[in-house]
Amino acid sequence: MVSQRGAMSARSVGLSILSLVSCFTLPAASAQLTSNGLSVTLNHVYYFISPFSSGRVLVKPTAFSAVPQVFGFKPVTVVQGAIAQEALPSLFANWTAIDDVFQPAFAQAIFLSGSGPWLTKRKIDTRDLSTILSINDTSIPSGPYFLEMATGSLYPVYRLYEDFAGAFLEPLIPTPDGKFQVLSAQIPGSASLTVGVPSRLYFTKTAAKPLAGVRLGVKDIYRLAGMKGSNGNRAWYNLYPASEKTGPAVQALIDAGAQVIGLQKTSQFANGESATADWVDYHAPFNPRGDGYQDPSSSSSGAGASIASYEWLDIAIGSDTGGSIRGPSGVQGLFGNRPSHGLVSLDNVMPLSPTLDTPGFLIRDPYLWDVANTALYGGNYKSLAKTQVKYPTKIRTLYFPDNPESNAAATIITNFANALAAFVEGTIEPLDLETSWNASTPVEAAGTPLEEFLETTYATLITKEQTSLVRDPFYADYAAIHDGRRPFVNPVPLLRWGYGDTLSEADYEAAKRNKTVFMDWFNSEILPPVDNPAQCSSGFVLYLGSQGGGNPRNRYGSAPGVPVGFNPGRISVFAEVPDSVFPLGQVSLRSEISNHDEFFPVAVDIMAAKGCDGLLVKLAQDLVEAGIVTPPLAGGTVTGGDILMKRRAEEKGVKEVRYVEYS
Ligand SMILES: *[C@@H]1O[C@H](CO)[C@@H](O)[C@H](O)[C@H]1NC(C)=O
Ligand SMILES: *[C@@H]1O[C@H](CO)[C@@H](O)[C@H](O)[C@H]1NC(C)=O
Ligand SMILES: *[C@@H]1O[C@H](CO)[C@@H](O)[C@H](O)[C@H]1NC(C)=O
Ligand SMILES: *[C@@H]1O[C@H](CO)[C@@H](O)[C@H](O)[C@H]1NC(C)=O
Repeated sequence: MVSQRGAMSARSVGLSILSLVSCFTLPAASAQLTSNGLSVTLNHVYYFISPFSSGRVLVKPTAFSAVPQVFGFKPVTVVQGAIAQEALPSLFANWTAIDDVFQPAFAQAIFLSGSGPWLTKRKIDTRDLSTILSINDTSIPSGPYFLEMATGSLYPVYRLYEDFAGAFLEPLIPTPDGKFQVLSAQIPGSASLTVGVPSRLYFTKTAAKPLAGVRLGVKDIYRLAGMKGSNGNRAWYNLYPASEKTGPAVQALIDAGAQVIGLQKTSQFANGESATADWVDYHAPFNPRGDGYQDPSSSSSGAGASIASYEWLDIAIGSDTGGSIRGPSGVQGLFGNRPSHGLVSLDNVMPLSPTLDTPGFLIRDPYLWDVANTALYGGNYKSLAKTQVKYPTKIRTLYFPDNPESNAAATIITNFANALAAFVEGTIEPLDLETSWNASTPVEAAGTPLEEFLETTYATLITKEQTSLVRDPFYADYAAIHDGRRPFVNPVPLLRWGYGDTLSEADYEAAKRNKTVFMDWFNSEILPPVDNPAQCSSGFVLYLGSQGGGNPRNRYGSAPGVPVGFNPGRISVFAEVPDSVFPLGQVSLRSEISNHDEFFPVAVDIMAAKGCDGLLVKLAQDLVEAGIVTPPLAGGTVTGGDILMKRRAEEKGVKEVRYVEYS
């Protein structure tokens, strides 16, 4: 998209190196002065001017005299493609509706492609006469820019937003060499970071770039070229240099046109942590739903909190080893997928357990979900969006409520199962995994009951794999430059790694074997695939996701423990089957924090046979079309609305509290 990129000239930031140096008799020293971009305000909207130019136009430094200027920059608009001048007002009205970055104030100075050169003055909006010049570099995309008057360089515009949910580790902008650098901007707001989003107008969706302009948050375990990463650990962030290379998973999304806007917080080393006690190195993101003080779940916490909070963010890539996408999706009322295992390389991603790790999305829009999955998983994902599917009719439920009237969440979940059954013209049957296991126990399990067979499997795999792949090299590298010291590690990963040290290689081999035995059993006895691609899976297995609030972050929790035991959330972990969260609605519960009734998300998890990831997304789309599922919105509830802590006092006429001296 960008040609003739270059850093802003020193002149543009109002400094003259030569005159400074000549005042003193100093030894000749080189001064490398680089612009990190500029932060400006246009009609009360915060913008960031990229330091990397998109190209140049021919313009007199005195042009557009009526347009305001800061540091030699003026807001302008580029319009490419054949369009009549008369149609510009309609075009700009459309742009304002689809893009949160563009505003009419950019359109006082317009560069219009076509047969120039010509100079016109036209009434584009009701207030001002716009000046129109011609542009003949078609490589500069349409949209708002800041024009450096002295050079004619056009710089892309980012709108700045506050990260009030504390979801980001570091916001970023792309650099011309295909890498990233930290966004250098700060606006007022909750004493939190500032995130920049590029204009949506710069990007055009094509077959090769189906994610063009889609704004993406990336969990801070995926390494990005030019950026440091932390894995949720401050010692790690400081110890290691910025990455050379973006890993293939995120690169696939970038190649499809996605715009990475920042690294997002993970609980430490992608282990399960509870807000607030376990998050020692960094503070846990804020779940915006309900009273705003429910645990955001982990480990893809920044991903979930941001997609639930920010309309200006489209998708977030997280990872799921033991529930790290499903947990945050559920408690924040989002779609989220733990995919079939092994769909895409996780090179340059910090592992928890390669045997179990999976990359997936947290998202509000089930249509974008399909496009993003296609870009991420490539040929290993079969999109069924445009296919006439034949849904499996066998629906089985795990631990669903016996009495649908027992509480509001039970009613929502039961109604959903019934609606799903009616939709696929199928039947619902409770699944008793233990009875099925007893009836067809694999010979390798030698009669061991299911829960005993899998009791320590997860804990063994994650702790043995992460200690050797992550902890050991980290400790060695840290000790080498810190006189033998050990880095600080949060209580949860520290305890888990310690557990790993008590295990033998034989325990590890047993865990791998048990996992495989269960997988083979589940994928043949319970949820086998079918040969018909329009159906893919022999059935759906449902289990309970979020059932409303009740996990406030201001609790004094108990000490962390080893994640032993078996539960429905472990099935997909071991069996490698896709397991997606569908947001179903919300329940009203009394909040002890706000002393008021608040709405909290309710969600269900749906599994299909291994490799049937596309079927679950198609199901989400069809259930939305049938009115059975409603796509969630960003906001204080799944149907949108103010986020409690963000309600503006000024708008309600609240005045400043003034303190007077007590006498
Ligand atoms: C258009 O492009 C040509 C050749 O690149 C250049 O000479 C000319 O000045 C350009 N005109 C304008 C108005 O930018
Ligand atoms: C603006 O959008 C409307 C409705 O989609 C469309 O009819 C119209 O042609 C658009 N205007 C321009 C200039 O693209
Ligand atoms: C499964 O078998 C074990 C013994 O191997 C038994 O203790 C357990 O009660 C059985 N469970 C069910 C649900 O039949
Ligand atoms: C594996 O299964 C055996 C029973 O066959 C059990 O004794 C052992 O604890 C299991 N180990 C792990 C790590 O899963």
